Amino acid sequence: RRVPAVVNEPIRSHAPGTPERASLKQRLASMAGEHVDIPVIVNGKEYRTGDTAPVVMPHDHAHVLGTWHKATPELVQEAIAATAAARDEWSRWAWEDRAAVFLRAAELLSTTWRDTLNAATMLGQSKTAFQSEIDAACELIDFFRFNCAYVEDLYGEQPLSEKGVWNQTDYRPLEGFVYAVSPFNFTAIGGNLSGAPALVGNTVIWKPAQTAMLSGYYVMKLLEAAGLPPGVINFVPGDPVPISDALLSHADLGGVHFTGSTTVFNSMWKTIGSRMGAYRSYPRIVGETGGKDFIMAHASADVDALAVAIVRGAFEYQGQKCSACSRVYIPQSLWAGVRDRMVAMMADIGMGDVRDFRNFMGAVIDEKSFTKIGGYLDEARATGTIISGGTASKDVGYFVAPTLVQVEDPGARLLCEEIFGPFVTAYVYPDDQYVETMKVVDRTSPYALTGAIFADDRHAVRLAHTHLRNAAGNFYINDKCTGAVVGQQPFGGARGSGTNDKAGSKLNLLRWVSARSIKETF
Ligand code: SER
Repeated sequence: RRVPAVVNEPIRSHAPGTPERASLKQRLASMAGEHVDIPVIVNGKEYRTGDTAPVVMPHDHAHVLGTWHKATPELVQEAIAATAAARDEWSRWAWEDRAAVFLRAAELLSTTWRDTLNAATMLGQSKTAFQSEIDAACELIDFFRFNCAYVEDLYGEQPLSEKGVWNQTDYRPLEGFVYAVSPFNFTAIGGNLSGAPALVGNTVIWKPAQTAMLSGYYVMKLLEAAGLPPGVINFVPGDPVPISDALLSHADLGGVHFTGSTTVFNSMWKTIGSRMGAYRSYPRIVGETGGKDFIMAHASADVDALAVAIVRGAFEYQGQKCSACSRVYIPQSLWAGVRDRMVAMMADIGMGDVRDFRNFMGAVIDEKSFTKIGGYLDEARATGTIISGGTASKDVGYFVAPTLVQVEDPGARLLCEEIFGPFVTAYVYPDDQYVETMKVVDRTSPYALTGAIFADDRHAVRLAHTHLRNAAGNFYINDKCTGAVVGQQPFGGARGSGTNDKAGSKLNLLRWVSARSIKETF
């Protein structure tokens, strides 16, 4: 392999007294006062349309960090034209040259750009320094580097030939643009949704989430700084509906690379279905959507490890990871121990401004999310027992206290619906109902993203492999259900959680190429 041996980017601790903490703090202070004016970027040119919205800090919503400009319908059309104009040349670049852009971006992010991406993610998305570091720095660096290695392997996969016959596979990019739609909850995802198709020669229109505009903008500027040519990735913020309508109805739509809600993905798929016949090729549709991720324990589980895993899985980044633990199934014999340990840990959770590095939680992303979670707090009061938390306040920021609820009905809404907040619901089952309860876990939610089993007993683990096989695309044994690492646990799920084309893997890259088999005889 020519791409240097890839290892995961080491995580910076930002521990008290370290130079890395001082330099991140300095960048946080400067960015908080910069008032960035975020343009639309089409064909390498910046457009400030005047139709703007503010960028605010979720944990202090009166603090405006900047402004972002919405793309006009004309700019959306220009972006389509830019992808068409850039495609020929970009797709003819040697893969090594395309890889060079992303390897360089990884290098810049690992060094001089790291504080900027971390500060933008902390301020704009209310991530703690650690949560930002594992996302905007490490995961994005890993996506860029690992994808380069996978691409080298992919292009090297060639068919057999025989005497007088020379066979080749030509991994062409798609004949049309890729529409990348990224969520607010991971800065790295925006870089990967746009970057992965581009790496194999596609040109991309990237619509970043309206609530992660600051970090999205800096990812785009990072790629430009690394040498990404104009028109290869076009940064098109704006109102989702008109942008999606224009792009999904275009004959040149080559594919959709989406992470976000199941509802939006379903509606995009329907729109594409209703327009079949209008496209040059069948658009590739790749999506990672919702989750109702679980941790289940067997009576042989280690109670200390289990309680820590639930607290971290449920409350890190305010429960807003698509992988976040939001339902737990605990045997009666362990419940008191798990509950008491969780309550003690939850009492110690610091929540507030993420610039105070002692805080473990920031705010949820916006008012809409705050209100939605509030509805589930009402539901908890009506149908369950709130063991800890249950409070929320939006006076300064959109703060929801970490919440643990117990319900008696395994079919309760709180155990089936995605909440996307710091909210975990527990169901306590009789110890002798282990297998039956796994069947309940498998069938009560429409999603199948992540899940975990805690058990010391090998037979219990074996049973979980059997009965929970389809309940999660990322399955953990004796670990929390969040924190998949690029190159180690390729990420994605099926059912209502998406097309399971594993982000940051060769499986994903294969969706962005259209292979041509060539046979030459002589
Ligand atoms: N990859 C993240 C995790 O595993 C979620 O997107 O937590």
